[in-house]
Amino acid sequence: MAGKDFKVTPWEVSGEVDYDRIIKDFGIQKIDEVLLNRIKKYTKDIHYTLRRKIFFAHRDFNLLLDKYEKGEKFFLYTGRAPSGMVHLGHLVPWMFTKWLQDKFNCDLWFQFPDEEKFLFKEKLTLEDTEKYLKENMLDVIALGFDPKKTKFLIDTLHAKLLYKQAVRVAKKITFSTVKATFGFGGETNIGAIFYTAMQAVPAFLPSVLTGRNIPCLVPLGFDQDPHFRISRDVIVKLGYYNPAIIHCRFMPSLQGPGKMSASIVESGIYTTDDPKTVEMKIKKHAFSGGQPTIEEHRKKGGNPDIDSCYQILNYLEPDDKKVTKIYNDYKSGKLLTGKLKEITIEFINKFLKEHQKKREQARKLVDKYIYKD
Ligand code: TYM
Repeated sequence: MAGKDFKVTPWEVSGEVDYDRIIKDFGIQKIDEVLLNRIKKYTKDIHYTLRRKIFFAHRDFNLLLDKYEKGEKFFLYTGRAPSGMVHLGHLVPWMFTKWLQDKFNCDLWFQFPDEEKFLFKEKLTLEDTEKYLKENMLDVIALGFDPKKTKFLIDTLHAKLLYKQAVRVAKKITFSTVKATFGFGGETNIGAIFYTAMQAVPAFLPSVLTGRNIPCLVPLGFDQDPHFRISRDVIVKLGYYNPAIIHCRFMPSLQGPGKMSASIVESGIYTTDDPKTVEMKIKKHAFSGGQPTIEEHRKKGGNPDIDSCYQILNYLEPDDKKVTKIYNDYKSGKLLTGKLKEITIEFINKFLKEHQKKREQARKLVDKYIYKD
C-alpha cells in the first residue's frame, strides 16, 4: 500500500509509515489491553515488544486464543527470504517468535523461500541466494530455538512437499488480485506472480501432514501482511484454519524513517558487523534527533522518537528502566547525542559479541533444524 509519504510492499518500504492508516486500510486490529491481559494469562509476563507496542496489530489472535482455551495447541510460522546478510531489524520478529515458542511450548515452522528474492531482484543469482541461505540459517539458530520443535523449510530443497500444496492455493488466486495487491503489471515475471502461493503453504502444511486441523500463528514485520491478506481466505476455502497474524513495526533505518533494509547496505547494522564497523556506521550514518548545537540541545532537548540510536535500543534492549531513562534524559537535553551514540555502540557490540558466538556454534547444528520429510 502507498500513502502520501510512504510505501509498504513485501519488497519495498520507504518513507515514514503511518501505522494508524495501515490498520484502517488493511482491516487489521490493534493489540489492546484486553488482548494483552489475555496473553498474559498464559505467558505470565509480557514481552517488551508487546509492552512497547512494537508488536502492535493482529488478525484473529483472539480466535486463536479461543481455540487454545479449548485445548487446541497452535504452531508458529515465520520466515526469511535470503537476499543478503541478516540485520538487526530482522531479529525483532524472530526474537519475539522465540519467546512465544518458549511460553507456549509450541512447534515453529520457519520458511526460507530461497527463490523469492531471486525472482524479485534483478541482480541476485541463485548462487547468491544459496550462499545467503547458509548464512541466514545461522542467525536464526543463534537465537536459541528448540531444535526438537523447530523445522526449517527451504523452498528449493522441499519443493516436492511445498509445490503440491502451493498449486492448490495458486488455483484460487487470480492475477487481478495479485496485480491489485502488489502493483504487478505486464512486465512482472510469472515466478513473482506465483510466489504468494509458496508463502501460504507452511501456514497449513502441519495440518496436511497430520491429517487434522492445527491452528497457526504467524509473527511478522508489517510488510509481509499482503501475502496473508490474500492467502488467508484461500486457506479456509481449502478446509484449513485461517492463520492468525501478529504484526510488528519496522526498526527504522540508520538514516531515519523507513525500515532497516537488507537492500540498502548503509541503512543497517548486520549481525556479522565487527565492533569497528558498528562504531563507524553509528557515528557516520545514525540519524540524530538532537539539536544542531550543544547549547540548543541542553535548552530545548532532543527528539528520541526520530533518533535512530534511541530506536535501536528501544527495539532491542529488554530493560524498560534503562530505555525510559535514556528517553527522558535525551528529551530533556541532559543526554547529548555523542553520549547516546556511545551508549548505543557499546550496547550493539555487546549484543553482537554474544550473537556471533552463538552464530559460530550454530554451524554444527544446521542439519538438526532442516525438516526431514
Ligand atoms: P524478509 O526476509 O524480508 O524479512 C524477514 C522478517 O523480518 C522482518 N523485517 C523487519 N522487522 C522489523 N524491522 C525491520 N527493519 C525489518 N526488516 C525486515 C520482515 O517483515 C520478515 O518478517 N517473504 C518473507 C519471508 C517469509 C516470511 C514467511 C516472513 C516467508 N514466509 C512468513 C514472515 C512470515 C521475506 O521476504 O522476509
